[in-house]
Amino acid sequence: MPPTPKPGILEIAPYVPGRSTAPGVAKVFKLSSNESPLGPSPKVLAALDEAKPSLSLYPEGSARLLREELGRAFGLDPARIVTSGDGSDALLTLLANAHLRPGDEVIFSEHAFLVFKIATLANSAVPVMVPETRTNSVIKVDVDKMLAAVTPKTRMVYIANPNNPTGSYLTAEEMARLHAGLPDDVLLVVDAAYGEYVTARDYEAGMEMSVRFANVAMTRTFSKLYGLAGLRIGWMHASPAVCDAVNRIRGPFNTTLMQQLAGMAALKDRDHFWASVRHNNQWLPWITAEIRKTGLRVDDSAANFVLIHFPLGAEGAHGTKDEKSAAAADAYLMKHGVILRGVANYGLPDCLRMTVGTEEQNRLAVALIQQFMAA
Ligand SMILES: Cc1ncc(COP(=O)(O)O)c(C=O)c1O
Repeated sequence: MPPTPKPGILEIAPYVPGRSTAPGVAKVFKLSSNESPLGPSPKVLAALDEAKPSLSLYPEGSARLLREELGRAFGLDPARIVTSGDGSDALLTLLANAHLRPGDEVIFSEHAFLVFKIATLANSAVPVMVPETRTNSVIKVDVDKMLAAVTPKTRMVYIANPNNPTGSYLTAEEMARLHAGLPDDVLLVVDAAYGEYVTARDYEAGMEMSVRFANVAMTRTFSKLYGLAGLRIGWMHASPAVCDAVNRIRGPFNTTLMQQLAGMAALKDRDHFWASVRHNNQWLPWITAEIRKTGLRVDDSAANFVLIHFPLGAEGAHGTKDEKSAAAADAYLMKHGVILRGVANYGLPDCLRMTVGTEEQNRLAVALIQQFMAA
């Protein structure tokens, strides 16, 4: 008998990253992976050079200097921070690896970030996917339904706040209500990969909750606003016990010297940080408003991307519904080199997700969507 994977693993649909090429098109505009249009801080590039003479040496295994810098930047205890050199994705997985037993239930919402399901199934645990609420301009996690799904078998709850691909967020009050309804032995993981983009005053990234409560872990990333997706630096803040568990199972040198130095430099460049925030604040509302003018539904987003709804094409029928479907829009944009993200694997076959890009990219993508809808 050949070796067989653990139960659950073959149920995993492998994660499909955003496309980065468009067949037959020389110049592409990649708006499919929520990357930063401003790129990294120049200070990060200088920090990478600093690492070069030491590449033959193992890095400091706990990323102490980066944790201390994170502690200073966010007012947190560095001892309660764990970093990752494989993005916050890896921390979402390590939290599951450290806490799930076969048959445990893990709650997350219907259109939640796909890594939650992968981490659950990889531990032979049971995904419990809870329907979200739809209003006119948002698809959102429903706290009451999440709490109603809790059973004695529930071991973890994942929330991406804001969520990808919906762009919606839960307020601090809603998060507090969710947490208050969970048993103490259920770990609430707040994935705030897009936390830096949120301007709403009623938002809290999960930091305060992860300071106060032993059963809350917050994960963060340098991949989005800091423009470092290629360097794969993530971090989490949690109770000493949760950090201890993750530290025992992570790779002993899981954050390279380059990653540590780059993360520290990124945190120190406040001008670059605010330039990224301002860019998003300028273009996110513009993209939303311009695409809405075509009659398409664009959901309110708190992050650096928008979810665009197209008429759902009815198979076999011919009419405007088919011609204006998400798949048809995607093909039209691809022909012109503009790559958005299809989100059928998130249960949203009628939608495309568009990342806020450079001014040139935003204007081109919006003009093409307008042309597509007018044709
Ligand atoms: C909600 C959410 N969480 C986490 C991540 C992973 O980020 P990282 O690059 O830190 O692994 C992403 C990236 O797309 C995301 O959308």
